[in-house]
Amino acid sequence: MVDLMVEKVALMGSPDRVIDAGAGTGRYALAAARRWPKAEIIAVEMDPILASAIKSNAKAAGVKITVICDDYLNVTLPAIRGTTAFIGNPPYLRHHDLPAKSKEWYSSHMKAMGLHASQLAGLQVYFFLKSALLGHPGDIGCFITSAEWMETGYGAGLRSLFCQMGGSQLTRIDPVMQVFQDALTTSVIASWETGHQGEVVVEDLVGQKASTSYRVSKDWLAAAPKWPGFGRALPLDQPTGLSLGDFFRITRGQVTGMNEVWVATPETASLIPERYLVPCVTGAREIIDSGGVLWDRSKLHRVVDLPANLAELTASERKGVDRFLKLARERGADATYIAAHRKPWWHVGLKAAPSVIMTYMGRRPPVFARNACGAAVINVAHALYPTKPMQVRELDAIVGWLNNNVRVDEGRTYGGGLVKFEPKEAMRIRIPKGSSAFVAA
Ligand SMILES: C[S@@+](CC[C@H](N)C(=O)[O-])C[C@H]1O[C@@H](n2cnc3c(N)ncnc32)[C@H](O)[C@@H]1O
Repeated sequence: MVDLMVEKVALMGSPDRVIDAGAGTGRYALAAARRWPKAEIIAVEMDPILASAIKSNAKAAGVKITVICDDYLNVTLPAIRGTTAFIGNPPYLRHHDLPAKSKEWYSSHMKAMGLHASQLAGLQVYFFLKSALLGHPGDIGCFITSAEWMETGYGAGLRSLFCQMGGSQLTRIDPVMQVFQDALTTSVIASWETGHQGEVVVEDLVGQKASTSYRVSKDWLAAAPKWPGFGRALPLDQPTGLSLGDFFRITRGQVTGMNEVWVATPETASLIPERYLVPCVTGAREIIDSGGVLWDRSKLHRVVDLPANLAELTASERKGVDRFLKLARERGADATYIAAHRKPWWHVGLKAAPSVIMTYMGRRPPVFARNACGAAVINVAHALYPTKPMQVRELDAIVGWLNNNVRVDEGRTYGGGLVKFEPKEAMRIRIPKGSSAFVAA
């Protein structure tokens, strides 16, 4: 990441002076000293032990680094003729841990710049502000931070500051990459060129590879209530935009209370009349492997879905079912929370087969399949019911689009990159205006 950021700075300009803000052991300063041997390299580090480590590291590497052991917020820099580059990994210190003096400093300078200063902003935001105050037209910068500020209410101040200080690029990092060893958080590299008025390039970084996603104007960024995280495309919140919920009602698959009892085995299936054994999606794999259409119900497991009133069974059917119910009781299937709250306890009550079924949890975007075989679905997946009649070819076009375009960050990302789409989040999946798959529908 250090090398990648040094190269980002090199693409913006050739610095005559480099400031490593919050330098730790001086990794950025050392990389900068090697990359720009003629530049003046300054490492700012408040911790005296780390500051002296930077000196030793510079000596060992045979490079010259000026170490300032002080609070970055106190630093002053003499004016120079050339370009100053700011680089680093600002400290991630939450607002609770910041002294009142620093908070006052932050509020008064933000106010003077006409920006809103949330009291919830952390030290990393202060580092941006300080760099903006130290910078002159033509200076450049590149910080890696946690990406929270792009999407949270208290990040609004930094979002406006980033635009005002000449933000030029946002590199959103794949949440699977754990950049900060001590924090499970998604991260972003924010680059700026002081005085830059143009568009901001928004890109994604997967491994060492960046893909340019799009360019966006500062006007759009200024108006957006939040900025899209990794993998998310614009427009994020276009008021006229449509979402998947405009086309489908999305619900969880049926909760059985005890899948190992209600999903029939060959033994239990032999006790149940065929008409109460309902082919069902019982594993995400079935959707993932379907290639977008679930054709064959014979490959699916079957769920025991007995009627509420067992009087509709013949006497011989009743014998088998009673044996099954006895087995189910022995395994506690009558006493689960779900069973205790449905009447009678054996009536799983599968819902009608949905038109489309989707996976909702994984380290990848959700996978969608048209339900051509009329399978029911249990709570391993979500069920999508069109809000108005749709033709098969329309459903196929929509499923194809969803499988190619829904990105992980539209769901809720957990540490380590696990992504979950609750039905509500799935209904909020943005459909770009005029997407041909949805136009017919
Ligand atoms: C996230 S670490 C980054 C270290 C280094 N850049 C790296 O990536 O290895 C942030 C560093 O900032 C230092 N720091 C914290 N508050 C500071 C402040 N107000 N002024 C200067 N340095 C500070 C910490 O001691 C820590 O070494």
